[in-house]
Amino acid sequence: MGLHRKIFLALAIAIVGISFVFILLTHLTVKGSIEAGIKETRGKEITNLTKELTTFFINHNHSWENIEQLKVLENIHQDDPEILVMDRQHHVILKKGDAPNKLVQYLGIKHELTIEHERAGEFFYYDPEIANFNKIMIGIPISVVILLIGCGSLLIIISLIIAYRLSKWIAAPLRILLPMIDRLGKGELGIQAPVQTKDEYGKIAEAFNHMSKELEQAEMVRRNLTADVAHELRTPLSIISGKLDVLQYQGQMIKPEALLPLQDELIRLNQLVEDLRILSLAEAGKLELKKIPTNMLDLAYQLLSAIGPLAEEKGISMKIDNQTNDPIICVDPDRMKQVFLNLLTNAIRYTPNYGTIFFRLMEEDPHYLKVTVEDTGIGIEKEHLSHLFDRFYRTDDARTRYSGGTGLGLAIAKQYVLSHDGIIEVKSMVNQGTSFIIQLPNDISKIEKINNGQ
Ligand SMILES: Nc1ncnc2c1ncn2[C@@H]1O[C@H](COP(=O)(O)OP(=O)(O)OP(=O)(O)O)[C@@H](O)[C@H]1O
Ligand SMILES: [Mg+2]
Repeated sequence: MGLHRKIFLALAIAIVGISFVFILLTHLTVKGSIEAGIKETRGKEITNLTKELTTFFINHNHSWENIEQLKVLENIHQDDPEILVMDRQHHVILKKGDAPNKLVQYLGIKHELTIEHERAGEFFYYDPEIANFNKIMIGIPISVVILLIGCGSLLIIISLIIAYRLSKWIAAPLRILLPMIDRLGKGELGIQAPVQTKDEYGKIAEAFNHMSKELEQAEMVRRNLTADVAHELRTPLSIISGKLDVLQYQGQMIKPEALLPLQDELIRLNQLVEDLRILSLAEAGKLELKKIPTNMLDLAYQLLSAIGPLAEEKGISMKIDNQTNDPIICVDPDRMKQVFLNLLTNAIRYTPNYGTIFFRLMEEDPHYLKVTVEDTGIGIEKEHLSHLFDRFYRTDDARTRYSGGTGLGLAIAKQYVLSHDGIIEVKSMVNQGTSFIIQLPNDISKIEKINNGQ
C-alpha cells in the first residue's frame, strides 16, 4: 500500500473513531443529566414513597405480604399520582392508578428499593405531568443523537475529504523523490532532486542530493585512480626509456654520471609504488602502528633540523611554538615523522623566499594534542580544499609535477592521522598562507606514562 493511502487510512480511522466516541459520550452525558433532572423534580415524593414502603417491608418481617392494604399516595400532592410496586422477581405486587403498567414503567420514575442492604424490589412513580415531562426528556436525547449522527456524518465526510487531500499533499514530495532514488540505484550517479521546501522533506532531498554527488565523486575517484596510477608511472618510465634510447643511439661507453638521471627516476618510481602500497594498507586498516610515548616537541626539533637546509636555501625561517606543558603522546613516531615531514616539505615548497613556517603544539582540548603547521605561502583556493587529501590531487598539476611531488603525500598523511584516531584539517587564504591542523588523542599516552612511571 502506498504511503499516501496509508496516511489517508490512518487519518480516516482516527476521524471515524473520534466521531463515534464523541457521539457516544454526548449521548450518555445528556441521558444521565436528563434522568437526574426528572428525579429531582419529584425528589420529595420519591423519598416519601420509599420511606412508606421501607417501613411496611420492615414491619412485615421483610415481606410484601398484604401490601394491598398500604395506603400509599395519600401524602402526594400532585394531580392523579400513580404507583406500581414490584418485588425482587419483578412481579407486580401493588398497583394504584388507571394507567397501563407498561406506560407507568416507560414514562414513570423508576426507583430501586434496597432495604438494610437487601434488594427488596422497585417501584415506578407516575403522574400526568411527569409523563409529559418524560416524553419531552426522552425526545431530547433522541433528537440530540439524530442531530449528532447527521452532523457527525457530514463532519466525517468533510474530514475524510480533507484527510484525502492532506495525505496526498504530505506524500507529494516523496513521489518526486522516489523515482530519483530509483534512477540513482540504476546507476545515474549525481542525479539531483528539486529541493522545494525547507521542512523535513527538503532536508531529505538535500541529503539525497549530497549523497548522490558524493557517490558520483567516489565513482569518479575510483575511475580516475587507475588512470592516475598509469599516468604517474608513465612519466618516469618514458623519461628512463628516452634517456636509454639516447645512450644507445650515442653508441659509446656509458659514463656513470649519465646513469644518475636514470637512477633518480627509478628512485621516484620506487617511491611512488611504495607510497601506493602504504596508502592501500592504511585505507584497508591493515597498517601496523608501533605506538610508543613520544615527545612531540623533540620530534619537531628533529624534523626541523632534518629539513632546515631546504628552508635555508629559500631564506625561510622555521619556528617552533610550544604552548603545552606535556607534549608527550602515544603515537608511532616514524609515521608521525612522515606526516609532518610532508606538511613541512609542502610548506617550504609553497612558501616564497623569506617566508615563515610555524610548528605549533597546543592543548586546547584535554583529550587531544593539537599540532599545526602554518606557512605564509601562496595559499590554496577554496575550491581545492575539500579535495586536498584525495590521492594524486594537485592544485596546479604542471607546476607540482615538475617540482617533484606525486600528490600522495597528504592522502598518506590523512590515513596515518586517521589510523591514530586523530583529525586532520586544512585552512587556507590565497596569498596569505595555509595551516594544517592535526589533533591527536592523548588519553592513552597519559595512561602509558603512568604505567611507565614517567
Ligand atoms: N602548504 C601548502 N601551500 C599550498 N599548497 C599546498 C600546500 N600543501 C599542499 N598543497 C597543495 O596540495 C597538493 C597535494 O599535496 P601533497 O603533499 O599531497 O602532494 P605533493 O606535495 O604534490 O606530492 P608528495 O607529497 O606526494 O611528494 C600539492 O600538490 C599542492 O598543490
Ligand atoms: Mg607533499
